[in-house]
Amino acid sequence: MILDGKKTSEKRLALLAEKIEETGLYPRLATVLIGEDPASQLYVKMKHKACEQVGIGSIGIELDAGVSTQDVLDAVHRLNDDPMISGILVQLPLPRQVDTHTVIEAVDPIKDVDGFHPTNLGRLFSGLPLFSPCTPLGVMRLLSEYKIDPAGKNAVVIGRSIEVGRPMAALLTNADATVTIAHSKTVDLASITQKAEILVAAVGRPRFVTSEMVGWGATVIDIGTNYDEDGKLCGDVDFAMVETKAGAITPVPGGVGPMTIATLMENTFAAEKMRSCGPLV
Ligand code: GUN
Repeated sequence: MILDGKKTSEKRLALLAEKIEETGLYPRLATVLIGEDPASQLYVKMKHKACEQVGIGSIGIELDAGVSTQDVLDAVHRLNDDPMISGILVQLPLPRQVDTHTVIEAVDPIKDVDGFHPTNLGRLFSGLPLFSPCTPLGVMRLLSEYKIDPAGKNAVVIGRSIEVGRPMAALLTNADATVTIAHSKTVDLASITQKAEILVAAVGRPRFVTSEMVGWGATVIDIGTNYDEDGKLCGDVDFAMVETKAGAITPVPGGVGPMTIATLMENTFAAEKMRSCGPLV
């Protein structure tokens, strides 16, 4: 079974557009883009396009590649204080001279639609999530769409990043899966991944997960967006090989990527609802 993130995200975006219209709210997302990395420029453009599609206003702040941490903090503080802004997204990665952790911690947690602030990650790990990171939450929603219930299942997440691996493990844990986080120092990775009923690859290496690493019938979630030596877009999973063994698998493109954007839109609407109605928790 192919887990179609494009179709699922379109369905969720249509539903969200209806909800936004019904409430009469006008959420607004501010993005902060630093430098001229073409991939980041493309991602931000796609996020603005999705905003337009569902009735969310958006503004884009663009800063020079040479900015200091303080310059970025100044921009974030202005957005925190701006009553017109519901959600803030600072596109990562940041240039080397900018301290990423300091910037993430500067975003007001109630506008942190990326869910990267330690307060939001802490809430997620305590089982009381407010905003959860969009990629892993999008994965949970894709699993739910296809009635794949993580409860009681053996789940393995390859990757321990703040943005994906760790929150993915927390969300799966909150959904009652038995979770292992594997990473670059894991010994005999294949022996661990073979036992996974849900395998999530967030490695950032083209076609890293091969069929020997996957158990028969496993649900395989590919979070990678890579380009191979021939410049072809591919995921972290060798799709052609693994497809025949997996019970369910996400394609790249058209799998997790569109779910990330749909979830960002949902988080932005949630932020606006909280701002206008008070905290929901
Ligand atoms: N860069 C790649 N993915 C993401 C994301 O989900 N959020 C942000 N802020 N930056 C990213």
